[in-house]
Amino acid sequence: MNSRERFLNALKCQSLDRPPIWVMRQAGRYLPEYRALKEKYTFLELVQTPELALEVTLQPLRRFRLDAAILFSDILVIPEAMGQSYHFRDTGGITMNFRLENRQQVEALDSTRIEEKLNYVSDALKLIHTELSGSKALLGFGGSPWTLATYMVEGGSSKNFEQIKSLFYSDRPTFDALMHKLTNSLIHYFKMQKAAGVDAIQIFDSWGGIIAGTDYEHASLKWIRRIIDAIGNEIPIILYAKGTSVHLSEQCATNPNAISVDWTISIKEASKRINGNIAIQGNMDPSILNTNPEIVRNQVLKILEAMHNRPGHIFNLGHGIHPTAKIENMEALVETVAGYKA
Ligand code: CP3
Repeated sequence: MNSRERFLNALKCQSLDRPPIWVMRQAGRYLPEYRALKEKYTFLELVQTPELALEVTLQPLRRFRLDAAILFSDILVIPEAMGQSYHFRDTGGITMNFRLENRQQVEALDSTRIEEKLNYVSDALKLIHTELSGSKALLGFGGSPWTLATYMVEGGSSKNFEQIKSLFYSDRPTFDALMHKLTNSLIHYFKMQKAAGVDAIQIFDSWGGIIAGTDYEHASLKWIRRIIDAIGNEIPIILYAKGTSVHLSEQCATNPNAISVDWTISIKEASKRINGNIAIQGNMDPSILNTNPEIVRNQVLKILEAMHNRPGHIFNLGHGIHPTAKIENMEALVETVAGYKA
Protein backbone atom coordinates (compact mmCIF):
# COMPACT_ATOMS: atom_id res chain seq x y z
CA MET A 1 0.00 0.00 0.00
CA ASN A 2 1.55 3.32 -0.97
CA SER A 3 1.04 6.60 0.90
CA ARG A 4 -1.86 7.72 -1.26
CA GLU A 5 -3.71 4.43 -0.83
CA ARG A 6 -3.07 4.54 2.93
CA PHE A 7 -4.53 8.04 3.08
CA LEU A 8 -7.61 7.17 1.01
CA ASN A 9 -8.21 3.99 3.03
CA ALA A 10 -8.04 5.98 6.28
CA LEU A 11 -10.60 8.41 4.85
CA LYS A 12 -12.85 5.39 4.22
CA CYS A 13 -12.33 4.31 7.86
CA GLN A 14 -10.61 1.05 6.94
CA SER A 15 -8.36 -0.67 9.51
CA LEU A 16 -4.65 0.02 8.95
CA ASP A 17 -1.40 -1.02 10.67
CA ARG A 18 -0.62 2.69 11.19
CA PRO A 19 -2.38 5.96 10.39
CA PRO A 20 -1.26 8.13 7.47
CA ILE A 21 0.41 11.41 8.43
CA TRP A 22 0.65 14.95 7.10
CA VAL A 23 0.71 18.29 8.90
CA MET A 24 -1.05 21.59 8.35
CA ARG A 25 1.01 24.48 6.89
CA GLN A 26 3.88 22.13 6.32
CA ALA A 27 5.35 24.60 3.83
CA GLY A 28 6.09 27.22 6.39
CA ARG A 29 8.62 29.43 7.95
CA TYR A 30 10.23 26.59 9.95
CA LEU A 31 11.99 25.26 6.81
CA PRO A 32 15.23 27.03 5.76
CA GLU A 33 14.61 26.14 2.09
CA TYR A 34 11.24 27.93 2.29
CA ARG A 35 12.82 30.98 3.93
CA ALA A 36 15.45 30.99 1.17
CA LEU A 37 12.75 31.21 -1.50
CA LYS A 38 11.07 34.00 0.46
CA GLU A 39 14.30 36.03 0.16
CA LYS A 40 13.84 36.02 -3.60
CA TYR A 41 10.05 36.10 -4.01
CA THR A 42 7.09 37.54 -2.17
CA PHE A 43 4.47 35.22 -0.70
CA LEU A 44 2.05 36.22 -3.46
CA GLU A 45 4.62 35.47 -6.17
CA LEU A 46 5.12 32.01 -4.67
CA VAL A 47 1.37 31.43 -4.56
CA GLN A 48 0.66 32.78 -8.05
CA THR A 49 3.51 31.14 -9.99
CA PRO A 50 2.65 27.46 -10.56
CA GLU A 51 6.29 26.28 -10.80
CA LEU A 52 7.13 28.00 -7.49
CA ALA A 53 3.97 26.73 -5.79
CA LEU A 54 4.98 23.23 -6.96
CA GLU A 55 8.45 23.65 -5.47
CA VAL A 56 7.14 24.90 -2.09
CA THR A 57 4.55 22.11 -1.97
CA LEU A 58 7.26 19.49 -2.48
CA GLN A 59 9.84 20.90 -0.02
CA PRO A 60 8.52 19.16 3.12
CA LEU A 61 8.01 15.88 1.22
CA ARG A 62 11.70 15.78 0.33
CA ARG A 63 12.63 15.95 4.01
CA PHE A 64 9.95 13.89 5.73
CA ARG A 65 8.09 10.62 5.03
CA LEU A 66 4.68 12.28 4.81
CA ASP A 67 1.74 10.48 3.21
CA ALA A 68 0.02 13.55 1.75
CA ALA A 69 0.97 16.82 0.11
CA ILE A 70 -1.11 19.96 0.61
CA LEU A 71 -1.18 22.57 -2.12
CA PHE A 72 0.88 25.64 -1.29
CA SER A 73 -1.59 28.52 -1.50
CA ASP A 74 -3.75 30.50 0.91
CA ILE A 75 -7.43 30.67 1.84
CA LEU A 76 -7.38 34.41 0.95
CA VAL A 77 -7.08 33.79 -2.80
CA ILE A 78 -10.91 33.64 -2.81
CA PRO A 79 -11.51 37.19 -1.49
CA GLU A 80 -8.78 38.34 -3.85
CA ALA A 81 -10.49 36.72 -6.85
CA MET A 82 -13.74 38.40 -5.77
CA GLY A 83 -12.11 41.83 -5.77
CA GLN A 84 -10.66 42.25 -2.26
CA SER A 85 -6.94 41.64 -2.19
CA TYR A 86 -4.64 41.24 0.82
CA HIS A 87 -1.10 41.70 2.03
CA PHE A 88 0.96 40.70 5.05
CA ARG A 89 1.68 43.16 7.85
CA ASP A 90 5.36 43.55 8.70
CA THR A 91 4.39 42.86 12.29
CA GLY A 92 2.58 39.59 11.47
CA GLY A 93 -1.02 39.02 10.46
CA ILE A 94 -2.99 39.97 7.36
CA THR A 95 -4.44 43.27 6.12
CA MET A 96 -7.09 43.34 3.39
CA ASN A 97 -6.76 46.27 0.99
CA PHE A 98 -10.11 47.58 2.22
CA ARG A 99 -12.78 46.57 4.69
CA LEU A 100 -16.28 45.46 3.68
CA GLU A 101 -18.51 48.02 5.39
CA ASN A 102 -21.84 48.04 3.61
CA ARG A 103 -24.28 46.26 1.33
CA GLN A 104 -23.01 48.06 -1.80
CA GLN A 105 -19.50 46.72 -1.24
CA VAL A 106 -20.87 43.20 -0.79
CA GLU A 107 -22.93 43.60 -3.99
CA ALA A 108 -19.81 44.78 -5.83
CA LEU A 109 -17.88 41.58 -5.05
CA ASP A 110 -17.64 39.47 -8.18
CA SER A 111 -18.17 35.76 -7.59
CA THR A 112 -18.23 34.89 -11.30
CA ARG A 113 -15.39 33.34 -13.33
CA ILE A 114 -13.58 32.06 -10.21
CA GLU A 115 -11.94 29.25 -12.22
CA GLU A 116 -10.54 31.74 -14.72
CA LYS A 117 -9.21 34.13 -12.08
CA LEU A 118 -7.65 31.30 -10.06
CA ASN A 119 -6.30 29.33 -13.00
CA TYR A 120 -2.82 29.58 -11.42
CA VAL A 121 -4.12 27.28 -8.65
CA SER A 122 -5.38 24.78 -11.18
CA ASP A 123 -2.06 24.93 -13.07
CA ALA A 124 -0.07 24.39 -9.85
CA LEU A 125 -2.25 21.42 -8.88
CA LYS A 126 -1.79 19.79 -12.28
CA LEU A 127 2.00 20.13 -11.97
CA ILE A 128 1.93 18.66 -8.43
CA HIS A 129 -0.39 15.85 -9.50
CA THR A 130 1.97 14.90 -12.33
CA GLU A 131 5.02 15.08 -10.07
CA LEU A 132 3.46 12.89 -7.34
CA SER A 133 2.18 10.42 -9.94
CA GLY A 134 -0.15 8.74 -7.45
CA SER A 135 2.52 8.06 -4.81
CA LYS A 136 1.16 10.51 -2.21
CA ALA A 137 -2.30 11.88 -1.61
CA LEU A 138 -2.81 15.44 -2.87
CA LEU A 139 -4.96 17.76 -0.79
CA GLY A 140 -6.66 20.92 -1.92
CA PHE A 141 -8.27 23.36 0.50
CA GLY A 142 -10.21 26.53 1.11
CA GLY A 143 -11.51 28.59 4.01
CA SER A 144 -15.04 28.19 5.30
CA PRO A 145 -17.38 31.03 4.26
CA TRP A 146 -17.43 32.29 7.87
CA THR A 147 -13.64 32.22 8.27
CA LEU A 148 -13.15 34.11 4.98
CA ALA A 149 -15.86 36.62 5.96
CA THR A 150 -14.02 37.43 9.20
CA TYR A 151 -11.00 38.67 7.21
CA MET A 152 -13.16 40.51 4.68
CA VAL A 153 -15.36 42.34 7.20
CA GLU A 154 -12.68 42.95 9.84
CA GLY A 155 -10.30 44.14 7.12
CA GLY A 156 -7.68 41.57 8.15
CA SER A 157 -6.58 39.52 11.15
CA SER A 158 -8.58 40.40 14.23
CA LYS A 159 -8.55 40.03 18.01
CA ASN A 160 -12.16 40.47 19.06
CA PHE A 161 -14.04 40.02 15.77
CA GLU A 162 -16.36 42.91 16.60
CA GLN A 163 -17.18 43.99 13.04
CA ILE A 164 -18.15 40.58 11.71
CA LYS A 165 -20.26 39.91 14.80
CA SER A 166 -21.98 43.31 14.51
CA LEU A 167 -22.80 42.55 10.89
CA PHE A 168 -24.12 39.10 11.77
CA TYR A 169 -26.37 40.41 14.57
CA SER A 170 -27.47 43.77 13.16
CA ASP A 171 -27.70 43.31 9.37
CA ARG A 172 -28.44 39.66 8.62
CA PRO A 173 -29.49 40.29 4.98
CA THR A 174 -26.06 41.76 4.15
CA PHE A 175 -24.29 38.99 6.09
CA ASP A 176 -26.31 36.35 4.23
CA ALA A 177 -25.64 38.03 0.87
CA LEU A 178 -21.90 37.84 1.56
CA MET A 179 -22.15 34.21 2.67
CA HIS A 180 -24.11 33.27 -0.47
CA LYS A 181 -21.42 34.77 -2.67
CA LEU A 182 -18.61 33.06 -0.76
CA THR A 183 -20.40 29.71 -0.76
CA ASN A 184 -20.93 29.85 -4.51
CA SER A 185 -17.34 30.88 -5.18
CA LEU A 186 -16.04 28.06 -2.99
CA ILE A 187 -18.20 25.44 -4.72
CA HIS A 188 -16.75 26.48 -8.10
CA TYR A 189 -13.25 26.64 -6.64
CA PHE A 190 -13.44 23.16 -5.10
CA LYS A 191 -14.83 21.66 -8.33
CA MET A 192 -11.90 23.20 -10.15
CA GLN A 193 -9.47 21.67 -7.65
CA LYS A 194 -11.12 18.28 -8.12
CA ALA A 195 -10.74 18.57 -11.90
CA ALA A 196 -7.04 19.43 -11.42
CA GLY A 197 -6.43 16.16 -9.54
CA VAL A 198 -6.83 16.61 -5.76
CA ASP A 199 -7.74 13.50 -3.73
CA ALA A 200 -9.58 15.39 -0.98
CA ILE A 201 -10.41 18.92 0.11
CA GLN A 202 -9.94 20.39 3.56
CA ILE A 203 -12.29 23.19 4.59
CA PHE A 204 -10.67 25.41 7.22
CA ASP A 205 -13.24 26.75 9.67
CA SER A 206 -10.41 28.27 11.66
CA TRP A 207 -12.59 30.91 13.33
CA GLY A 208 -15.74 28.87 13.93
CA GLY A 209 -14.80 28.74 17.61
CA ILE A 210 -15.34 32.46 18.25
CA ILE A 211 -19.08 32.26 17.48
CA ALA A 212 -21.61 32.12 20.33
CA GLY A 213 -22.67 28.48 20.64
CA THR A 214 -26.31 29.09 19.77
CA ASP A 215 -25.37 30.96 16.57
CA TYR A 216 -22.76 28.56 15.19
CA GLU A 217 -25.34 27.01 12.84
CA HIS A 218 -26.43 30.27 11.18
CA ALA A 219 -23.05 31.96 11.20
CA SER A 220 -20.94 29.08 9.93
CA LEU A 221 -22.14 25.49 9.82
CA LYS A 222 -25.12 26.05 7.52
CA TRP A 223 -22.83 27.38 4.77
CA ILE A 224 -20.37 24.52 5.17
CA ARG A 225 -23.31 22.08 4.85
CA ARG A 226 -24.29 23.72 1.55
CA ILE A 227 -20.80 23.18 0.20
CA ILE A 228 -20.74 19.55 1.33
CA ASP A 229 -24.23 18.99 -0.15
CA ALA A 230 -23.04 20.44 -3.46
CA ILE A 231 -19.74 18.55 -3.84
CA GLY A 232 -19.53 15.88 -1.13
CA ASN A 233 -20.46 13.06 -3.48
CA GLU A 234 -17.74 14.08 -5.96
CA ILE A 235 -14.76 14.51 -3.65
CA PRO A 236 -13.89 13.55 -0.03
CA ILE A 237 -14.11 16.48 2.40
CA ILE A 238 -12.18 17.01 5.63
CA LEU A 239 -13.71 19.60 7.94
CA TYR A 240 -11.08 21.35 10.06
CA ALA A 241 -12.88 22.84 13.00
CA LYS A 242 -10.84 24.78 15.51
CA GLY A 243 -12.19 25.39 19.00
CA THR A 244 -15.56 23.88 18.15
CA SER A 245 -15.46 20.44 19.76
CA VAL A 246 -18.73 21.24 21.60
CA HIS A 247 -20.34 21.10 18.14
CA LEU A 248 -18.93 17.74 17.01
CA SER A 249 -22.30 16.03 16.66
CA GLU A 250 -23.73 18.87 14.54
CA GLN A 251 -20.57 18.78 12.42
CA CYS A 252 -21.00 15.02 11.90
CA ALA A 253 -24.54 15.67 10.66
CA THR A 254 -23.15 17.71 7.72
CA ASN A 255 -21.61 14.45 6.44
CA PRO A 256 -17.93 15.24 5.95
CA ASN A 257 -15.59 12.28 5.27
CA ALA A 258 -13.34 13.38 8.12
CA ILE A 259 -13.28 15.88 10.96
CA SER A 260 -9.97 17.43 11.92
CA VAL A 261 -9.92 18.27 15.63
CA ASP A 262 -7.68 20.63 17.56
CA TRP A 263 -5.78 19.64 20.71
CA THR A 264 -8.23 21.09 23.23
CA ILE A 265 -10.28 17.87 23.17
CA SER A 266 -8.66 14.51 23.91
CA ILE A 267 -8.71 12.49 20.72
CA LYS A 268 -10.24 9.56 22.61
CA GLU A 269 -13.19 11.73 23.62
CA ALA A 270 -13.48 13.07 20.06
CA SER A 271 -13.56 9.51 18.72
CA LYS A 272 -16.47 8.68 21.04
CA ARG A 273 -18.42 11.63 19.70
CA ILE A 274 -17.62 11.20 15.99
CA ASN A 275 -19.65 8.56 14.11
CA GLY A 276 -17.68 5.47 13.15
CA ASN A 277 -18.08 6.14 9.42
CA ILE A 278 -16.34 9.54 9.69
CA ALA A 279 -12.53 9.60 9.92
CA ILE A 280 -10.76 11.65 12.62
CA GLN A 281 -7.74 13.79 11.89
CA GLY A 282 -5.51 15.20 14.59
CA ASN A 283 -4.57 16.34 17.07
CA MET A 284 -1.15 17.09 18.58
CA ASP A 285 -0.57 20.59 19.94
CA PRO A 286 1.87 22.21 17.45
CA SER A 287 3.74 23.85 20.37
CA ILE A 288 5.12 20.42 21.25
CA LEU A 289 7.36 20.78 18.20
CA ASN A 290 9.27 23.47 20.13
CA THR A 291 10.39 20.97 22.83
CA ASN A 292 12.67 17.99 22.16
CA PRO A 293 12.46 14.67 20.25
CA GLU A 294 11.82 12.59 23.38
CA ILE A 295 8.83 14.67 24.45
CA VAL A 296 7.54 14.63 20.88
CA ARG A 297 7.78 10.82 20.64
CA ASN A 298 5.90 10.38 23.91
CA GLN A 299 3.14 12.75 22.92
CA VAL A 300 2.79 11.14 19.48
CA LEU A 301 2.59 7.66 21.01
CA LYS A 302 -0.17 8.76 23.39
CA ILE A 303 -2.30 9.82 20.42
CA LEU A 304 -1.49 6.69 18.40
CA GLU A 305 -2.35 4.43 21.32
CA ALA A 306 -5.58 6.26 22.10
CA MET A 307 -6.64 5.66 18.48
CA HIS A 308 -5.24 2.22 17.65
CA ASN A 309 -8.64 0.50 17.89
CA ARG A 310 -10.47 3.20 15.96
CA PRO A 311 -10.30 2.74 12.18
CA GLY A 312 -10.08 6.00 10.28
CA HIS A 313 -7.39 8.02 12.03
CA ILE A 314 -5.19 10.48 10.11
CA PHE A 315 -2.31 11.77 12.21
CA ASN A 316 -2.01 15.56 12.17
CA LEU A 317 -1.36 18.61 14.30
CA GLY A 318 -4.32 20.38 15.89
CA HIS A 319 -3.40 23.55 13.93
CA GLY A 320 -0.69 24.75 11.55
CA ILE A 321 2.98 24.22 12.35
CA HIS A 322 4.64 27.24 14.02
CA PRO A 323 7.66 29.03 12.47
CA THR A 324 9.52 28.14 15.71
CA ALA A 325 9.08 24.36 15.26
CA LYS A 326 12.41 22.50 15.35
CA ILE A 327 13.24 20.30 12.40
CA GLU A 328 14.59 17.47 14.58
CA ASN A 329 11.23 17.42 16.35
CA MET A 330 9.32 17.24 13.10
CA GLU A 331 11.60 14.32 12.13
CA ALA A 332 10.83 12.56 15.43
CA LEU A 333 7.12 13.09 14.89
CA VAL A 334 7.04 11.68 11.38
CA GLU A 335 9.33 8.75 12.16
CA THR A 336 7.27 7.80 15.23
CA VAL A 337 4.08 7.66 13.18
CA ALA A 338 5.67 6.04 10.12
CA GLY A 339 7.37 3.39 12.29
CA TYR A 340 4.28 2.58 14.37
CA LYS A 341 2.58 -0.81 14.20
CA ALA A 342 -0.82 -1.03 15.83
O1 CP3 B 1 0.64 23.63 4.49
C1 CP3 B 1 0.71 24.56 3.65
O2 CP3 B 1 1.71 25.26 3.48
C2 CP3 B 1 -0.51 24.80 2.79
C3 CP3 B 1 -0.74 26.18 2.51
C4 CP3 B 1 -1.50 27.03 3.50
C5 CP3 B 1 -1.10 28.33 3.85
N1 CP3 B 1 -2.12 28.92 4.51
C6 CP3 B 1 0.17 28.96 3.48
C7 CP3 B 1 0.65 30.06 4.33
C8 CP3 B 1 -2.74 26.78 4.09
C9 CP3 B 1 -3.56 25.51 4.14
C10 CP3 B 1 -3.13 28.01 4.71
C11 CP3 B 1 -4.43 28.18 5.36
C12 CP3 B 1 -4.76 29.48 5.99
N2 CP3 B 1 -4.35 30.73 5.64
C13 CP3 B 1 -5.68 29.58 7.05
C14 CP3 B 1 -6.47 28.44 7.65
C15 CP3 B 1 -5.63 27.62 8.54
C16 CP3 B 1 -5.28 28.31 9.83
O3 CP3 B 1 -4.12 28.68 9.98
O4 CP3 B 1 -6.18 28.45 10.67
C17 CP3 B 1 -5.74 30.95 7.39
C18 CP3 B 1 -6.59 31.54 8.50
C19 CP3 B 1 -4.91 31.66 6.48
C20 CP3 B 1 -4.68 33.13 6.41
C21 CP3 B 1 -3.25 33.40 6.72
N3 CP3 B 1 -2.20 33.15 5.86
C22 CP3 B 1 -2.73 33.87 7.94
C23 CP3 B 1 -3.55 34.31 9.16
C24 CP3 B 1 -1.33 33.91 7.81
C25 CP3 B 1 -0.31 34.27 8.86
C26 CP3 B 1 0.18 35.67 8.76
C27 CP3 B 1 1.29 35.87 9.77
O5 CP3 B 1 2.12 36.71 9.50
O6 CP3 B 1 1.33 35.20 10.80
C28 CP3 B 1 -1.02 33.44 6.52
C29 CP3 B 1 0.33 33.31 5.96
C30 CP3 B 1 0.73 32.00 5.42
N4 CP3 B 1 -0.07 31.16 4.69
C31 CP3 B 1 2.03 31.41 5.53
C32 CP3 B 1 1.97 30.21 4.83
C33 CP3 B 1 3.11 29.25 4.58
C34 CP3 B 1 3.23 32.08 6.17
C35 CP3 B 1 3.74 33.07 5.15
C36 CP3 B 1 5.13 33.50 5.38
O7 CP3 B 1 5.35 34.43 6.16
O8 CP3 B 1 6.02 32.95 4.73
